[in-house]
Amino acid sequence: MSELPKAEPFKNKIVEPIPRVLFARRAEALARASYNPCLLDARDVPLDLLSDNGAAAMSDRQWAGLMVGDEAYAGSRNFYLLEDTVRKTFGHEFMVPTHMGRGAVHLVSLVLLEEPGKLVATNNTAPTARVHFERRGAEIVDLLGEAAADPTSRERFRADIDLPKLEKLLDEQGERVAVLALSLCPDEIGSLPMRLGNLEKAAEMARARGVKVLVDASRSASWAAMVKAHESGQAERTIAEIVLAMAACADVLTVSAKEGCLANAGGFVTTRNEEVFVGTRSMVVVFEGLHTYGGMAGRDMESVAIGLDEMMSPDGLEWHGCQVTRLGDALRSAGLPVLEPYGASGVFLCARRFAPQLAPEQLPAQSVAAAIYLGAGVRVAEHGQVSRYRQGATGAEPEIELVGLHPPRRVYGMSQLDAAAAAVLSVWEKREAVRGLERTHTPPSMGAWAARFTPVDPAGLLAELPADPQLRAFERYEPYRVKAVEPIKMTDRDYRAEAAAEAGYNTFLMRSEDVYIDLLTDSGTSAMSTAQWASMMQGDESPAGSADWPALEKAVRDVLGFTYVLPVHQGRAGEHILSQVMIRPGDYVPGNMYFTTTREHQERAGGRFVDVIVDQAHQPANDYPWKGDIDLDKMRKLIDEVGARRIPYVSYETAVNMAGGQPVSMKNARELHELCRQHGIAVMFDATRCAENAYMIQKKDPEYARTPVREILRELMAYGDGCTISSKKDNLVNIGSFFACNQKWVYEKAKEMLPVFEGSLSSGGMTGRDMAALTRGIYEMIDDDYIRSRVEQTQYLGALLLEAGVPIVEPPGSHAIFLDAKRFLPHIDQDAFPAQVLAAELYIESGVRAMERGNVSAGRDKQSGQNKRPALELVRLTIPRRVYSREQMKVCAEAVKRVYARRESIKGLEMVFEAPQLRFFTARFERL
Ligand code: F0G
Repeated sequence: MSELPKAEPFKNKIVEPIPRVLFARRAEALARASYNPCLLDARDVPLDLLSDNGAAAMSDRQWAGLMVGDEAYAGSRNFYLLEDTVRKTFGHEFMVPTHMGRGAVHLVSLVLLEEPGKLVATNNTAPTARVHFERRGAEIVDLLGEAAADPTSRERFRADIDLPKLEKLLDEQGERVAVLALSLCPDEIGSLPMRLGNLEKAAEMARARGVKVLVDASRSASWAAMVKAHESGQAERTIAEIVLAMAACADVLTVSAKEGCLANAGGFVTTRNEEVFVGTRSMVVVFEGLHTYGGMAGRDMESVAIGLDEMMSPDGLEWHGCQVTRLGDALRSAGLPVLEPYGASGVFLCARRFAPQLAPEQLPAQSVAAAIYLGAGVRVAEHGQVSRYRQGATGAEPEIELVGLHPPRRVYGMSQLDAAAAAVLSVWEKREAVRGLERTHTPPSMGAWAARFTPVDPAGLLAELPADPQLRAFERYEPYRVKAVEPIKMTDRDYRAEAAAEAGYNTFLMRSEDVYIDLLTDSGTSAMSTAQWASMMQGDESPAGSADWPALEKAVRDVLGFTYVLPVHQGRAGEHILSQVMIRPGDYVPGNMYFTTTREHQERAGGRFVDVIVDQAHQPANDYPWKGDIDLDKMRKLIDEVGARRIPYVSYETAVNMAGGQPVSMKNARELHELCRQHGIAVMFDATRCAENAYMIQKKDPEYARTPVREILRELMAYGDGCTISSKKDNLVNIGSFFACNQKWVYEKAKEMLPVFEGSLSSGGMTGRDMAALTRGIYEMIDDDYIRSRVEQTQYLGALLLEAGVPIVEPPGSHAIFLDAKRFLPHIDQDAFPAQVLAAELYIESGVRAMERGNVSAGRDKQSGQNKRPALELVRLTIPRRVYSREQMKVCAEAVKRVYARRESIKGLEMVFEAPQLRFFTARFERL
C-alpha cells in the first residue's frame, strides 16, 4: 500500500495577502532599491525567499504568548519561562537575553576578547559574528576544510573544522588563541553542517588548552536533524539529545531566536561558566536592556520560549526539510547549478556557474540575485562578495559566490515553492542575458544590507526578459501566505482505531485534537486574514452604538445590494426570524433542496417545505452543471395547485449544500425572479455560499467569463428580495451573521423580534470585534483571486478522486466533495449505515475527519418509525477556507483511495445509542 504523502503538520490560522507585482513595477522597485534586493520594499515582493530569519509564521500559542507578555521592567514572568526553556533545551545553567542574535555575539565578544591581539579560531563565516571579533581587535583564523570553498563538492559536513590545522594552531600559538568559535551550519557555505563528532573533538582540543568554546547554536534543531539523519552513529539519538550533546561541548552558546525559535525577534546567550555569565550580565545592561529582558519585550520572550519548544518538533523539522528538498529538486532536475546536498536554511545556487559571463568584479551573486527578482518576482539572497562583513576582508572568506533561496518556515505552501522554482527557471533560461552590476556605494561593514549598485551594461540587468511568471501566478498558487499556524497532531493507525471506537464511530464525537485534517465542515472554520484580526483589535464593545454596526450594514449593502440589514448571531437565527415574519400556518415554501435548520424553521412557523430543485440534483452521477437550479415547471405546478397567495417566498439557496455544493445559474435566477414577480411571490436567498456560486457562474457560463465575481454577485442578488446567510461560510468569519431584505414591512416586523431573541438592533448578539471581522470578510470573499483559489481547491480534490475512479457526487461542487457511499460500499445495506462507517474508516486510515450525510442524518420516519433510507447516502469532505494546503488535499485524496482499495473488507455498523432529535450528532455505533 502506498504511503500517505507528506503534508504540513499544521493548519493555517491567519493568512495575509501576497502582492501581485508585475514586471514594470518590479523594474521600478529594483531601480529604487539600487539593485540590492535587501533594500526592496517588501510590498513589491510576491515570493520572498530572502531569508528565513525572523520571517517564520508563529504558531497560535506564540501569538497567544504575545498577549500574556509581562511588560514589567524587572523579573517578568516571561523571562523565567524563557530561562527554564533554555536550560531544558541546552542544559546550561545561565541565560542572558538579548534583542537578537547579534546582540548575543556582541556581549560575548566583549567578555571573551577582553584585550586586542587575540586569535579566534573558527568555522563561522557569518558577518554578524566576524565583525564583532574584529572590532575587539582579534584576528580571525579560518579552520574550514577545503570542501567548504568548493561549490562542486558533494560533502555534506562541509562545516567540519580542519582538526590538524586546529591542532597546529593550538601548538604554535596556543597562548594567543582566546576562542574557538563554532557555527553549526554557516549560511555562507550553503548552510551545511559540521559533524557532532568533529565538534566534540575540536572542543576537546581547545578546552584542553584552556581555550573557550563558543557555539552559534541558532540553527541547532535543524542541525541536529541533519546529524541524526546523516552522521554515522547518531541515528538512535533524539534531536533533543543531540542538541544537549552539542551544548555539553561548549562554554557559551549564542542563539538568534529569529533563526531557530520561529520568532520574529529575540536572542540570548547561555552558558555554564559563571564568570562568563557575570561578564555578559554586566554588559547586557549597557547595550541591550536589563538582564531580565535584554532588549526584548516580555511578549517576545514568551514567543521565543514557546518557539524554542516548537523548533524541536520532529514533524516541523521534517516538513521544512521536505520543502527545501522539493525546491532543490525542482531546480536541480532542470539543470540549475544547485549546491548539493541542500542546506539547513534552503537551497543555494552557484552564481558563477549560473552566469559564467560575469567577471568576479561584476558581482555574480548580486547580479544573479537581482536578476531573479527582476525576471521572476522571487526575492533571493546574495551570499558572496557583497555579504562579506567588511570591505576588503580576505582570508578564507567564501571563494564561492552563492545565491540562497530560503523558504521561511511555515509561510509558503508547496504550490508557492513550485511556482518560485518555475519562476527562477524562467530566468535561468535567459541566463545569457544576465548582465553585471557595479558598486555605487559600499558601506564600511555589513555591506549586504546597505550597498548600492548600478548595471554595467546600457541594456540593463537583464538584456532579455522571460515571459513574466507573475502574470498568472494566482492561478497556480493561493493569493495568500501564512501568518500564523495551528500545529496539528499526527497520530498512528492504532491510536486512531482506538479513538474511533471510543467515539462510537461517530466523527461528531471525536476530539478535534485527534484529527489530522478536519473536513467535518466549512462552517466557522475559516482562517481569518491579518486585516480581519487587525480590525478585531479595533472592535468597539460599547454597550450601544458600536461603530462596527453601521460599517457592517454598509458592507452588506455594497456587496449584496439589499436595503435593510439586521444583525444576528449566526445563520439559523436569521432563518428563525425570517420564517416567523413571512410564513403563516399552512403556507408552502418551495426551495431548491433543503438545509436542515432552514427547513426546521419553516416548519416551526407552520410552513410546508416543497422541494422544487431540478431532478438532476438527486442523481449523484449526473454531471449537469447547474444542479442547484429550481425547476420552473415544478414551481408553476405548485403555484397552480396551491395558489400564489399560499407561497410567501421561494427559499433559494446558492451553491446548494445538500446537493453537493451545486450552483444555480444566472439564467435560472433571472427566470425565477420574473416568474415570482408575476405572481407576487418573494425570492429569499440562502446566500450562505453566494460568492462560491458567483465564481461558478464566472467559471461555467461563458457570458460571465470576464465579469468580476463582485459584479456577478450583485446581479445574482438583484434577482431576489432579501437573504438569510450563515456568515460562518463565505463571509470568512468564525461566528456571526445577518439578515437582509428590501421589503420595509419584513424589516419592521423582524426588528421587533430581534431584541427578544438575538440582541440589540446594532449588534444582534455579536461582539463589536465579530462585526468588524465580518465587515472585512464580506469584502474579502469577492476578491476574484481568493474565491478562485478557494473553489479550485475543492475542484482539485474532486479531480483527484474522479481520476482514481472513486464514486463521488458529480460534478465536484464548491465547498465540499461528497463520496457516494452507496456506490462505494454497495455490499452494505443502508440500515447498516454505509456512509457512517465510511467516514469512520477514513478517519482510521488517515486522521481525516468527514461527515455522514445519509441514513443517520436523515433520521426516522415519524409515521413508521423506520430509518428514512434517503436517496443520497453520502460522506461530505468539506473544505475549510484558507486553512489547508494543496499537499493536504493530496493526503485526503490518497486516504480515500486507500479506503476504496480495501472497500470489500469493510463491514457495516449497528446503532447502539440514538437521541430522539438530530440523532446524527450523538449517535453511537458498534461494528457488526
Ligand atoms: N444554510 C446553509 C446552506 C447552511 O449550510 C447552514 C449551516 C445554515 C444555513 C445554518 O447556518 O450554522 O450559521 O446557523 N451549515 C453548516 C454545515 C452547519 O456544516 O453545512 P448556521
